[in-house]
Amino acid sequence: MEKGVFVTGSDTGVGKTVVAGAIAAAIKAQGLDVGVMKPISTGASEIDGKLVSKDARYLKKIIGGTDADELVNPIRLKPALAPTMAAAESGIAIDIDKVWKAFEELKEKHEFMVIEGIGGLMVPVDDKLLVADMALKMDMALVIASKHSLGAINHTLLTVECAKSRNLRVKGIVINMLKDGKDFVSEIEKYSSVPILGTIPFKENVSVENCTYGDIVEHFRREVNISRIMRREE
Ligand SMILES: Nc1ncnc2c1ncn2[C@@H]1O[C@H](COP(=O)(O)OP(=O)(O)OP(=O)(O)O)[C@@H](O)[C@H]1O
Ligand SMILES: [Mg+2]
Repeated sequence: MEKGVFVTGSDTGVGKTVVAGAIAAAIKAQGLDVGVMKPISTGASEIDGKLVSKDARYLKKIIGGTDADELVNPIRLKPALAPTMAAAESGIAIDIDKVWKAFEELKEKHEFMVIEGIGGLMVPVDDKLLVADMALKMDMALVIASKHSLGAINHTLLTVECAKSRNLRVKGIVINMLKDGKDFVSEIEKYSSVPILGTIPFKENVSVENCTYGDIVEHFRREVNISRIMRREE
């Protein structure tokens, strides 16, 4: 079995948090001890003098997680910018060691980890590393979240190409906000040669901001290939 999965996206705002949360909760429903992580968040809000990430809060809530925020989301930045730019604007340097330490601790503690990336694979996280390097260092296979919209075939295929060229294992793609018609799904599958793990329609009661997830976990258990995500194949 895998030790976890790294959920990346074809872009920002495509549904990484929704997909990561549903995967984590669906695996937890199978009886495993699951941990979640959002290594770096930007656009964090200040509540009672403390920076809080909406993604980390959502991921923790959907699995009923009790790990400390400092482990789940070791680096929180207020400006809603890419990490290195948010850090520069905040006048601080990103201490990536905090991420590795928190990850090791959580991986040791839990049977399965679900990590949400930041933006997409080519987002810099410090002076040297990109998100893709982070996933590789964590030795986690990828699930790629993609959103049905114009331009998404290009973004999704670029993400798959990038993953393959960097020796990242790709479990498959989850297509979010799928509208009528299956053409988008078949195009992505045909040109990426990567399995489509499942699709999600727009769901009224799903909101990362409001921390509500409607029936997304049941939807994943029914319609998304969770066993492929868990199974390690070499
Ligand atoms: N299937 C869905 N139905 C309804 N709303 C959705 C669905 N998927 C995502 N959303 C909403 O779309 C927005 C973007 O989703 P999400 O936050 O999961 O994207 P993300 O890739 O994690 O973004 P970020 O790059 O900011 O981390 C959120 O407001 C979320 O609540
Ligand atoms: Mg997110």
